Amino acid sequence: MRIQDAVVLVTGANRGIGLAFAQEALARGARKVYAAARDPRKVTLAGVIPVALDVTNADQAHALARDLSDVSLVINNAGILEVGGPLGDGGLESMRRQLETNLFGVLNVTRAFAPALVAHQGGLLNVVSVGSWLAHPAVGNYATTKAAVWGLTNNLRCLLEPQGVTVTALHMSYVDTDMTKTMDVPKLTPEAVAKAAFDGLEAGRKEVLADGFSQALKAGLATPDALYLGGK
Ligand SMILES: NC(=O)c1ccc[n+]([C@@H]2O[C@H](COP(=O)([O-])OP(=O)(O)OC[C@H]3O[C@@H](n4cnc5c(N)ncnc54)[C@H](OP(=O)(O)O)[C@@H]3O)[C@@H](O)[C@H]2O)c1
Repeated sequence: MRIQDAVVLVTGANRGIGLAFAQEALARGARKVYAAARDPRKVTLAGVIPVALDVTNADQAHALARDLSDVSLVINNAGILEVGGPLGDGGLESMRRQLETNLFGVLNVTRAFAPALVAHQGGLLNVVSVGSWLAHPAVGNYATTKAAVWGLTNNLRCLLEPQGVTVTALHMSYVDTDMTKTMDVPKLTPEAVAKAAFDGLEAGRKEVLADGFSQALKAGLATPDALYLGGK
């Protein structure tokens, strides 16, 4: 699908990768960009239309979808990362919090906007992560939620593609945002990630692997030392 003339909704658009998506959508000639944020006053980018959306609130997502029936591209970007794994102190609560945003948030927004996407023969872009393909004690809960989003995205594709909606999953390694500010590792820029994602979407790709690490990780899934098996 083309970004030019699309009507785009970006969740978590007030900062980080979501902000870069909103900027890149404007740069590619989107007709409208709805920048969704829990607090729309935090959306300061000129040229977008700020809208309120907490993705964990299904009623709010459905009400918004009734108001914004012209949306042709949804970018499920909003997400949270809490360090820790399933067996640590508070691990159950942390897993639930992250699932509420990272998995059920995507589901809430997609269920609300699916009729508009079908009506406009549009697109759905879900921001996943290399976390979907690895196991790591430091971020075990987050990685689990991203594996779930990968599965959800693939299942949404089965339902939506036959109805004319392009469904794309975006995977990438570290990106330089608030989410990774305490991590001293090489990072992609949010702008590079947004560009790679839109290039893939415009090329009709079902999956975008935005960096070398995500490409290597995907290629290694069938090997005995795959990272998801605990390999190094
Ligand atoms: N950064 C990375 O290295 C990296 C790598 C792979 C994938 N990702 C994924 O990329 C996406 C964006 O991450 P980021 O790095 O840009 O993170 P970020 O800088 O921490 O921004 C997260 C965004 O999500 C929003 N958000 C969180 N919970 C929300 C909710 N319940 N409803 C609506 N919005 C909510 C935040 O809004 P508030 O300002 O209100 O908190 C913020 O706008 C996430 O899905 C993340 O998992 C990130």
